[in-house]
Amino acid sequence: MNNHQSSLLVTGGAGFIGSNFIHHYLHKYPDSKLINLDKLTYAGSKNNLSEVQNLNNYQFIHGDIADEKLVNDLFSTYDIAGVIHFAAESHVDNSIEDAKAFITTNVQGTYTLLQAAKQAWEKNNQLAKRRFHQISTDEVYGSLGETGKFHEETPYNPRNPYSASKASANMLVKSFGYTYGMNVVISSSSNNYGPRQHAEKLIPTIIRKALSGQPIPIYGDGRNVRDWLYVEDHCRALDTIYHDGKTLETYNVGGGNEKTNIKLATEICEILDDLEPIIPTHISLKSYKDLITFTADRLGHDQRYAVDDTKLQETLGWKPTMTLSSGLRQTVEWYVAQWKQVIH
Ligand SMILES: NC(=O)c1ccc[n+]([C@@H]2O[C@H](COP(=O)([O-])OP(=O)(O)OC[C@H]3O[C@@H](n4cnc5c(N)ncnc54)[C@H](O)[C@@H]3O)[C@@H](O)[C@H]2O)c1
Repeated sequence: MNNHQSSLLVTGGAGFIGSNFIHHYLHKYPDSKLINLDKLTYAGSKNNLSEVQNLNNYQFIHGDIADEKLVNDLFSTYDIAGVIHFAAESHVDNSIEDAKAFITTNVQGTYTLLQAAKQAWEKNNQLAKRRFHQISTDEVYGSLGETGKFHEETPYNPRNPYSASKASANMLVKSFGYTYGMNVVISSSSNNYGPRQHAEKLIPTIIRKALSGQPIPIYGDGRNVRDWLYVEDHCRALDTIYHDGKTLETYNVGGGNEKTNIKLATEICEILDDLEPIIPTHISLKSYKDLITFTADRLGHDQRYAVDDTKLQETLGWKPTMTLSSGLRQTVEWYVAQWKQVIH
């Protein structure tokens, strides 16, 4: 790749949302240059990027966003036109187990990127023009009761180490905007689903456990509610916010698809019953639903998330296009195909 041509720097592009975004971006802007900086933790995989890895305008850099030297070198070697910052430790359960990596990557790593971008962009008087887009989560707002939704002005009230680390990172991003005049924008989305999500997350776990005839674990009474957003809808929103969002603003991105975990698991099992019916001689079950098992609740488990994204819809014209039932079916089909490749 030509070092002097402006590039978009994506961090964490080997993970779930980042890899979907890279596919979206390079498909939509085939002449743009994109650099993907990823540490390839357990959650990242180059397999997620096999379709783009040989493109001339795509470059992978294996490294840590918290590595100051590497990040500074990257900003001095390449002309970075903007940053879309996905890289994070992202699994709440892991943060409850041990929060250290969440602080190092999510907080210190974000600071390292901000500082490197600031230094590079100040040099060529571009600090107010080039964009730093922070990818955040609705979890920074805390937990809702049975009614209401998170708005952009909802005060932060993170309740687990993961959401606390993301809220801290967002605060740093905003501070670089207010203090130094950096052109920052934040988007906070609800739970994403779709292809290429790590096996540890809820939907891939439900599918994997079901297909292997194992108990499908659902926390507590299964009544926790999440607002599900199809990852490609999210990627379109990010594209819009990165290009057209106002500096220093936050935009919420929701799917408009609230569902309890138990209803979600039940629907996935029904899709699986249709796609991969259980062979009675192998497992003595009528439906994958019979495998659903309630387990001890997650510590500090947030009851309900729901996102109001009127601002994004009304000011930037984005709308989600995927219904939860079609999105879930496409997602289950994708994981079933992956599963078949592994077992054959
Ligand atoms: N998945 C969701 O439902 C969801 C919802 C809202 C917001 N988010 C946010 O979106 C972003 C992406 O989430 P995801 O689900 O794709 O995560 P993921 O865990 O699937 O991927 C994270 C990626 O970041 C990389 N990474 C981790 N630490 C790194 C480091 N120190 N340096 C460089 N790379 C590193 C990993 O290797 C991986 O490729 C995160 O910031 C997350 O907080 C996720």
